[in-house]
Amino acid sequence: MAETFPAQLQAKLAVALAKTGVAADLPEGFVPEVTPSANAQFGNYQSNAAMVLAKQVKTNPRQLATEIVENFDGEGLCDPPEIAGPGFINFRLTQSTLEDTVNALLADPDQLGVARATEPQTIVVDFSAPNVAKPMHVGHIRSTIIGDCLARVARFLGHDAITDNHIGDWGTQFGMILWGWKNLLDEAALEADPVTELLRIYREVNAKQKDDETLRDICKAELVKLQAGDEENLAIWERCVALSKIGLQKIYALLDVEFDHWLGESFYNDRLAPLVDELIASGIAEESEGAICVFLRDDEKLAEKPCLIRKSDGGFLYATTDLATIDYRVEELKADAVWYVVGAPQQLHFDQIFGVAKKRGVTADLQFVPFGSILGKDRKMLRTRSGDTVQLADVLTEAVDRAQVIIEEKNPELSADEKAQIARIIGIGAVKYAELSQFRMTDYIFDWDTMLALKGNTAPYLINAYVRTKSIFRKLGTEFSGVEAIALTEDAEKTLALKLAQFSEIVPSILNDFRPNALAAYLYELATTYHTFYEQCHILSSEGIVKDTRLALCELTGQVLKKGLGLLGIATTERM
Ligand code: ARG
Repeated sequence: MAETFPAQLQAKLAVALAKTGVAADLPEGFVPEVTPSANAQFGNYQSNAAMVLAKQVKTNPRQLATEIVENFDGEGLCDPPEIAGPGFINFRLTQSTLEDTVNALLADPDQLGVARATEPQTIVVDFSAPNVAKPMHVGHIRSTIIGDCLARVARFLGHDAITDNHIGDWGTQFGMILWGWKNLLDEAALEADPVTELLRIYREVNAKQKDDETLRDICKAELVKLQAGDEENLAIWERCVALSKIGLQKIYALLDVEFDHWLGESFYNDRLAPLVDELIASGIAEESEGAICVFLRDDEKLAEKPCLIRKSDGGFLYATTDLATIDYRVEELKADAVWYVVGAPQQLHFDQIFGVAKKRGVTADLQFVPFGSILGKDRKMLRTRSGDTVQLADVLTEAVDRAQVIIEEKNPELSADEKAQIARIIGIGAVKYAELSQFRMTDYIFDWDTMLALKGNTAPYLINAYVRTKSIFRKLGTEFSGVEAIALTEDAEKTLALKLAQFSEIVPSILNDFRPNALAAYLYELATTYHTFYEQCHILSSEGIVKDTRLALCELTGQVLKKGLGLLGIATTERM
């Protein structure tokens, strides 16, 4: 598959620039910017290169634009460029370029034009990472859904993405759980529904210890015993972790999320003491008021905020574990990069551990991928009616139940099995899409009616657009079977062909700033572009090469929607 249109236009612009009067003054490595035009009236792409350069070399931008255009050779890619406004250069792709693109996309069903990385990297994606025996709440849904999507995109681009669920299986919550297990456990309830029973224990002890200092101390003592290797406590801990994992697995199965590893915090226990010793020996860490810290004095933001790695009582911390985790990922998993998909409140923690890692000479590309909160309709943190944190499992069940009602109404003649399967796809897809269609830092409002609507920027709308591309072929009575030739006659066809080609521009851009929402926005535009095409161009009643072309556009729209939704972790259905 050829390079993207912006890349091709950039290369041609560079050639033209080298022939202009400013050639000698071009800044080192100058790459002219080329972006899709917002308005088709001005062509398909535009560049502000003349304006940017004119400012730098102090010349008239329109004049420079004229000079660039005179030297520009579109060579069958685009018509002679036009100049607009203060010096924008506008490009319009030729009809045959667009027709070639449709053929190229048809010949590339796996990648649909998306180039694979020339230098594939090994990337560990750290996401979801709930804390064991504590509720996995909707906040974790953001991490789970965003992280899964980023791993899918990275793989599609040819990287080796390793997904690792760094569960919190060694935290202070175990002090409470251990006491609760010994004093409040209902064995029968545990048997029936372990996750709910563990949660009940956790909540009850948590409430009790709030104004009971003695109990707090007792729980702490249980934790110390666990950490010292007490057999009874270790056995209980192991069971808690195992039971919690079973509960989590159910949720991940429903979400279609898989992990290559589940290397939780406890996996690193034995590495913490030697790590701290090494940091002291190498002079990176120092003692401060009995504790061991790393001071990041060179960093203005962190100078006053040392990274604590061993408490004065000898206990290790979240940061210590994360430092050991970086070592493991770099040395054992051979990571070139690690992406941490974790809520924005942990910014300081990651600034600190990245700072320490850098001091230790770690060169892997460590990226914090933060996200904001999910709000209720009242714009406050999402809560249940009783004020508890909303549980992810409950959200997913409700999503599927609500989708079931919609399917029932829309298509009552489907079989019960089909309805159940489609409800799952729509319900889970709606929750995922509500997340991924927002910029991750936005605090978004969780609203069932909006996310399940059949119209608007929602999963049901996009899945339905896919279904419509499929129903054409059902009406036709045959699958798409290729074309002799492509001839784009109507504007709506050309617009759709261009949109389809832009899949190759959008997908790599997602990783620039970890923005799955760019893909969501693209898919929504594709669906609406398809809708316009569908209204303006008769498909089944057309004939010959026109009909073939339109069928090819339907087929490709279906393929791109399916692939794109798949990258978001959203499944499609053939009918709904
Ligand atoms: N368990 C943590 C939490 O729920 C998230 C862990 C994120 N990953 C990491 N390597 N620190 O807040």
